[in-house]
Amino acid sequence: MQRVLQRPRPMPDNLATDRPSAARIYDYYLGGSHNFAVDREFAERAIELWPQLPQIMRENRSFLNRAIRYLVGQGITQFLDLGSGIPTVGNVHEVARSADPDARVVYVDTDPVAVTLSRSLLAGVANTEIVEADLRDVESVLSAVQTRQLLDLSAPVAVLMIAVLHFVPNSDDPAGIVARYRSVMAPGSYLALSHATHEGEPGQADPHMALYARTGTPMTMRSRAEVEAILHGFDPVPPGIVYFPQWRPDPQAPPIPDPERFTGYVAVGRRR
Ligand SMILES: C[S@@+](CC[C@H](N)C(=O)[O-])C[C@H]1O[C@@H](n2cnc3c(N)ncnc32)[C@H](O)[C@@H]1O
Repeated sequence: MQRVLQRPRPMPDNLATDRPSAARIYDYYLGGSHNFAVDREFAERAIELWPQLPQIMRENRSFLNRAIRYLVGQGITQFLDLGSGIPTVGNVHEVARSADPDARVVYVDTDPVAVTLSRSLLAGVANTEIVEADLRDVESVLSAVQTRQLLDLSAPVAVLMIAVLHFVPNSDDPAGIVARYRSVMAPGSYLALSHATHEGEPGQADPHMALYARTGTPMTMRSRAEVEAILHGFDPVPPGIVYFPQWRPDPQAPPIPDPERFTGYVAVGRRR
């Protein structure tokens, strides 16, 4: 994938570069350059075990783009992107703005590289902000000055949790966290999520999760039933909870065989 970002500011001094980070590993899978040796070594080992990983990540990104276009089509003009990652081609504000120039976007991530690069990318871009916060700390996200200034939660909003909830362990109650966000979302709001699962390729799950256990962001893959429980209080729009390539594919795109190979469930749910 072609990269458009330069690195105009130095990386922050507080980076933990001795351990791979989910944001930078994902950047490497997507063909980016915002990663360190420790991330590249990790990603190469993971790809060795599971060669399809980069393609899975590209499908995740493609779902994100389709979901945003769908949401703008439903009249959504404000987005809260939790676990937004290192900026790459087709960021949420770019896709949303191409459909509605007035779209407002608040990005949230815990990773200092993702936050620093997002700040650089967004400098001077109206109606977009980045918050450095942990999505599990719902109060901090919602009370951040950027969130309060840019988003009007009395009107419908889209909350995006794309490829991030599998970094929230069961002990942190992901369904409870989503319910906290749901409680402040106006009726007619949406939740879009993608989530790694062991159900498509069961043999790959354990070695992959064992690898991620070495990072600062261990991974918990979940079943379809668990993803459904996370979506409690949201009505999934058709086609429901499906594998990446099955969610409203572009009509001109060739069909992708064996979609379960993509080992990620996706859904867009409308708040009741
Ligand atoms: C795989 S990337 C996904 C990026 C983007 N959402 C996408 O799908 O293209 C996961 C991102 O979630 C972030 N992340 C992980 N746990 C988080 C948490 N508890 N709060 C906020 N961000 C988190 C990581 O730093 C990383 O940038």
